[in-house]
Formats: sequence, structure tokens, C-alpha cells
Amino acid sequence: MKPIVYVTRRIPDQGLALVLEHCQAEVWPEETPPPRNVLLEKVRACDGLLSLLTDKVDAELMDAAPRLRVVSNMAVGFDNIDVPAATERGILVGNTPEVLTDTTADFAFALLMAAARRIGEAIDYVRAGRWKTWGPMLLMGHDVHGATLGLIGLGRIGSGVARRAQGFNMRVLYHDVVRRQDLEQQLDITYTDIDTLLAESDFVSLHTPLTPETRHIINADALRKMKPTAVLVNTARGPLVDSQALYAALRDGVIGYAALDVTDPEPIPLDHPLLTLPNCLIVPHIASASVATRGKMAELAARNLIAGLKGELLPTHLNPAALERRRAP
Ligand code: GLV
Repeated sequence: MKPIVYVTRRIPDQGLALVLEHCQAEVWPEETPPPRNVLLEKVRACDGLLSLLTDKVDAELMDAAPRLRVVSNMAVGFDNIDVPAATERGILVGNTPEVLTDTTADFAFALLMAAARRIGEAIDYVRAGRWKTWGPMLLMGHDVHGATLGLIGLGRIGSGVARRAQGFNMRVLYHDVVRRQDLEQQLDITYTDIDTLLAESDFVSLHTPLTPETRHIINADALRKMKPTAVLVNTARGPLVDSQALYAALRDGVIGYAALDVTDPEPIPLDHPLLTLPNCLIVPHIASASVATRGKMAELAARNLIAGLKGELLPTHLNPAALERRRAP
């Protein structure tokens, strides 16, 4: 008998084929996530769950799933999962780091450049039929080369952005809870406290996980410390930024621009004030969305799921301690 698993959305075939080969799988077929009541019902009989960042996997869900042995999240971030609750219950949890690092760092840099050079506004300008001639002061932005970049969070993706910044001859500052002296020379980056980073950076890019400590790390106070021309880039998690404070700061010229791949709430409602601002560029959480990388994420998520079902350590595990308490098939 194959183990029973639920896959909360259709994922790329590299992963789905593996899941279907090893498991008796049901896949939620819609574009939007399964509603909570559906998910709670579906996990009742499941040995494994392949989840996405849009699925809340908390103690209530785990308690509704007495056979659940593994939760494999197809994302590097796992703030949607209560990992300590899973560990207590002997449920293994995995995520998909590494495979998306460069793709996400590419995209953070793309957003940084798009904001600096006002590419979104320029596209709208042309499409609105407003391009009458070459203009000596038309859509002037700010240079990326030679500017100062401040990275909040220097994990894999933050380091990847620092590496790209070298090619643009940028001065790179970083702040993290752990100082990474080992990387400072290699990446030509300087550790600073957060206030110095905010005050000196032309671009501030967020690369920290969402935790109670990092929620609203960019609030009204932090925004006031930034340069009036500064660009804020967020490819990490929406709630790192206080959206209301960001709106006021962009509207009042406290900072210059924001480029957001993630928002709070997500998706951003069409009547959200941030969408009324010309100096705010918003895209729908697609930083890791290259064909190759989404395939690798799906495959890794499938491998984590299958390993967990066999009671093995997951290739990219978040709570190996759960192995000692693992549930019998
Ligand atoms: C995407 O946001 C991820 O965490 O992989």
C-alpha cells in the first residue's frame, strides 16, 4: 500500500511525477489554495502533506491528521508552519533552500534596478501613449553603479545579492543577528548596526526570515532613518514591512521608492493605497519563479516528502529532532 499524501496545488512535473510514483496522492486542482476547512478534512487520512507557503500548517491541522508523518513545504521560507508543534508531534518538516538562491537573488537585483531606473513607470508611460519625444529630463532615476546597498539579512540569498552588487561596483553594508566575518572579505561587505545601514544606504534590500523579532523591522521609525531618495526592496516576506507606514513614507517623500515582491496582506487588495503610488512597484511573489528553479523546488519538495514517509532524515530538514519521536506508519 502506497502512503497517502495531499498536495495543496499542482506543482511542476519534476516533483509531481515523483510523488505520484511513490504515493497515493490527491492534488488540489484550483489556482487558489484549498480553503482551511478543505485542508483540515483532506489531512485527516494523510501520511504526508506537500504544502506551499500559502497553507497554514499549525497545531490544529496536525491534530486533525493523526497519521501525518511529514510536511514538505515547497518554499525556502517556513513561517507558515509551526515547526516546534510538528517536532513535539514527531512530524518531520522540510523546506527547499539552496535551489532557489541564485534565481531569487537575480530577481531582487532586477527589482532594485527597475526601481532605480523607474522601469515600471516607463512601461506605463509608453503604453498610455505619452511618449512624444526624447526628453532631456524624462523619467530620470538614480544610478545603481557606485551606490550603497544595505542588506538586512546575510543568509544565502542576501549573500547572492552582495555578489551581484560587486559587478556594479556598489558599496555593500549588511546587518544580521550573526556577524559573518568569514564572508566580509570574500564579498567585500561591511557589517554595521541597523541604524547606520538605514542612514547610509541608497538601496535597502530585505533577506531575513519572518519571525516575531523581524515582523515590521521596517516600520515608521526605520523609514525615517533612511535617505529621502532611498529604495526599499523586499523579496523576503511582506510582514517585515509595516505597509501603512510604508505608504505614508512613499507618499510624503520620507523615502524615494519601494519595489516589493511580497506584501502584507498578500495578495495585495486592489484598493490598497500602495497601489495608487507611482513610486511603488509591486509584483506577485515571483522571485523564485524561473522554469528551472520551480522544477528543482518541486523535485526537492517531493524528495523530502518521500524520505519523511520512509522515516528517513529529509534531504533538507528543519527539525531532525522529530525523528526520535516519529510516528509509525
Ligand atoms: C518563497 O517565498 C519561498 O520562501 O520559497
